[in-house]
Amino acid sequence: MILARRLSTKAQTRVLGTKAPAQMRVLSTKAQIRVLSTKAPAQIRVLGIETSCDDTAAAVVSGDGRILSETNRHQHSVHAAFGGIVPGLAAAHHQANLPLVLRQTLLGAGLRIGDVDAVAVTRGPGMAASLGVGVAAAKALAAVHALPLVGVHHMEAHALLARMGRDDVRFPFVCVLVSGGHTTTLVAHDVNRYTTIGATRDDSVGEAFDKVARDLGLAWPDAQDGGGLGPALEQAAARGDAARFPLPVPMDKSASAASPDFSFAGLKTHVRRMRDAGAFDARAPQDQADMAAAFQRAAVAHLRKKTALACRRARAMGVDFSCIVASGGVASNAAVRRALAAVAEAERVPLECPPPRLCTDNGVMVAWAGVERLRRGLLDPYTFDFIQRWPLDRLSEMPYPARASSFDP
Ligand code: KG4
Ligand code: ZN
Repeated sequence: MILARRLSTKAQTRVLGTKAPAQMRVLSTKAQIRVLSTKAPAQIRVLGIETSCDDTAAAVVSGDGRILSETNRHQHSVHAAFGGIVPGLAAAHHQANLPLVLRQTLLGAGLRIGDVDAVAVTRGPGMAASLGVGVAAAKALAAVHALPLVGVHHMEAHALLARMGRDDVRFPFVCVLVSGGHTTTLVAHDVNRYTTIGATRDDSVGEAFDKVARDLGLAWPDAQDGGGLGPALEQAAARGDAARFPLPVPMDKSASAASPDFSFAGLKTHVRRMRDAGAFDARAPQDQADMAAAFQRAAVAHLRKKTALACRRARAMGVDFSCIVASGGVASNAAVRRALAAVAEAERVPLECPPPRLCTDNGVMVAWAGVERLRRGLLDPYTFDFIQRWPLDRLSEMPYPARASSFDP
């Protein structure tokens, strides 16, 4: 219905056919950046595109942090039958879905692509074929409209989202990034500048939630719920008794207790071994719930202890952090949020977590990271490629040839 209100593609071609070439000229990127520097943040609009994993997402966000429109097509029903994400299928579905996700996002914001001030896209890390779909689309859109292009690090986008529309979430801050691909604590010194404190030595916490949920025989949640199997485990844990199957907290002994790193593979394997030894029945709902609760308690205790350690390390580095930011899919878990809030309270700083729905992958975080990077002139050439593996603390080593002036008032 909404689509019908716009000119059909054929009609648009006819209109173009009547225009003199001079009327079709667009401003060069440099000229656009000059125009941007005169705009108030509230007038800036950035389109963000996310296709690094299994969500085809886009959003338009204003320079002062208002979400003007957002769309997210999950692929859970596609991958559920395989028990995990199939990279080739994910890329094929991004290919199929991205054009209409983009169209719906622009229509939702009441904008045409030419009204947008910049295009931001997840450049990495993630699955190569999936990243390629979003990056190719963003480059083409930006290039034909001579728009500034911003390549975004997926984990920086998770982290920076805590600052959207908030003047009080200031650098430096301690950052806990917990997702399906990452489990890291860092100091965020500024946009583009991060120092890693701790990282996982094996599985990420999200991976462990997913694999344990699978081993417990939990069903993949409803297709429109974000976040994969993690929410299924959280829901089961809420019905369970964590004390029935006590599990050891990882890296809690002697030497490894002092390390800020994480490890979740041992905990995951512990659950599997107990199942294989018949200690619980993965088809019995109460056993599933009690085991889910036990796993979640140990995993959350591990996150809490290592985050506290990261805060101590940050202070030892002389970093006077303003808050703890927690983001990434696992930060939508209520038990994780409660545990990290307790760490923040002990450190006498606030815990800043995006709302649960924005902790999992979305287009808003990419658009907002685009705003933050654009503000600092961190633009990318139309020729850039995606980066599959990309440590966040290597971000500042990237060359940024097209430096724009700030659009801050
Ligand atoms: O950030 P994200 O959406 O995608 C990646 O960048 O990986 O994180 C997805 C991960 C998945 O492993 C998912 O199971 C986990 O976050 N997750 C959760 C919850 N919601 C999502 N884990 C535990 N509890 C949740 N409520
Ligand atoms: Zn993510």
